[in-house]
Amino acid sequence: MTTDHASATEQAEVLLLLSNVEAAYGPVKAIRGVSLQVRRGEIATVLGSNGAGKSTILKTISGVLDPTRGTVQFKGQDITGRDPADIVKRGLVQVPEGREVFPLLSVRDNLLMGAYTRHDRDGVATDLEQVYAYFPILRERQRQDAGLLSGGQQQMLAISRALMSRPELILLDEPSLGLSPKLTREIFEIVVRINRERGTTILLVEQNANMALNVADHGYVIENGRIVLADRCSVLRDKDDIREFYLGVKDEGVRGERRWKKKKTWR
Ligand SMILES: Nc1ncnc2c1ncn2[C@@H]1O[C@H](COP(=O)(O)OP(=O)(O)OP(=O)(O)O)[C@@H](O)[C@H]1O
Ligand SMILES: [Mg+2]
Repeated sequence: MTTDHASATEQAEVLLLLSNVEAAYGPVKAIRGVSLQVRRGEIATVLGSNGAGKSTILKTISGVLDPTRGTVQFKGQDITGRDPADIVKRGLVQVPEGREVFPLLSVRDNLLMGAYTRHDRDGVATDLEQVYAYFPILRERQRQDAGLLSGGQQQMLAISRALMSRPELILLDEPSLGLSPKLTREIFEIVVRINRERGTTILLVEQNANMALNVADHGYVIENGRIVLADRCSVLRDKDDIREFYLGVKDEGVRGERRWKKKKTWR
């Protein structure tokens, strides 16, 4: 199912292309030589542990952080170091880690903020109805301050606010952070529906490798700021290293024990 989608998207246009991107916070280099591509219509994922550089990749794409080296291309155009607002207007929006909704604005006003670059009122009204259809709780709470929503509901709001700009590409930073397994599944289901029903391309960053590898078509594994593996998710799911270190599955017996302890090498 996912594999069919992966092979279908393999022919599609490259929507996002990072070439040799490097980014730093002062003297600290956070990512180096990162090259990756996302094709139109697919869900791609970047996996990696804490501090690996996942959020940094997304920030260099959305213009929050200027890369010190390399280029970012979106729809064939160079957007490296552009203003974040300009990048949103081009159809690329980020849902940052930790949601970041406006707590003192109502749920509805948060959603309308997501559409601030648009002037098609009818289209905005249609999209508002659509996000309420995806997440009915947001309709129920539309007049309430966003700060009163639960963590999971705020994540729904953050995703919905991004949708309100009618993006072609959404960057999603750890949507499962702090959520129960049940709520995580629900959010991922909607993410897949958004991708399939609206044709929105998604670049998803996750520590929950299990979820990410199940919904995404192509995956990249990042370690210490470098991409160490890139493949279709159906292939990544079967790799021993991924199974051991990200999915928590390890071989039985002594050999398995030894493999587990030995210094990790990617292949
Ligand atoms: N604002 C910052 N100032 C200084 N260093 C930073 C800053 N943000 C991130 N870093 C460092 O850059 C590296 C990559 O961080 P990044 O936030 O991209 O990791 P991550 O993969 O998103 O981790 P997590 O899963 O914990 O969110 C880390 O070593 C981190 O300490
Ligand atoms: Mg992060």
